[in-house]
Amino acid sequence: QTVFVLNGPNLNLLGTREPGIYGASTLADVEALCRETCAQHGLGLEFRQSNHEGELVDWIHEAGRLHAAGQLAAVVLNAGAYTHTSVALLDAVKGTGVPLVELHISNVHAREAFRHHSYLSAAARSVLCGFGVDGYRLAIEGVARWK
Ligand code: DQA
Repeated sequence: QTVFVLNGPNLNLLGTREPGIYGASTLADVEALCRETCAQHGLGLEFRQSNHEGELVDWIHEAGRLHAAGQLAAVVLNAGAYTHTSVALLDAVKGTGVPLVELHISNVHAREAFRHHSYLSAAARSVLCGFGVDGYRLAIEGVARWK
């Protein structure tokens, strides 16, 4: 089974973007961490990033086709700012039925009020935030333990 790790807008800037909040690791570092963790658990990995909402929707649909074929472990989605704005991403998750982990590097609840609401949480099986980029590893380990 494969884990889709999907990253939304501005996550390509990891490493230089507000390092006090998001840390010094780059997205390439995060991909390496995910690859290592998936390998440890016998899971395949698709790791992607896009700044475009529709592309993320298309990728959730792609994951949905794998899900229908019994080949998807989970979608781990850090939707970035789209978390707080996107009914389209919510509808994509609901429409495909993919098992979702909503992930944030920072603790969104300790930040600005506009980050406290997520459109995705209602459709997520698991939600993880505030562990820094180590959350990606924890999310994959959590998926490997799902029953
Ligand atoms: C984020 C939190 C969001 O509020 C923000 O817009 C991001 C990153 C996080 O990983 O902490 O882009 O999802």
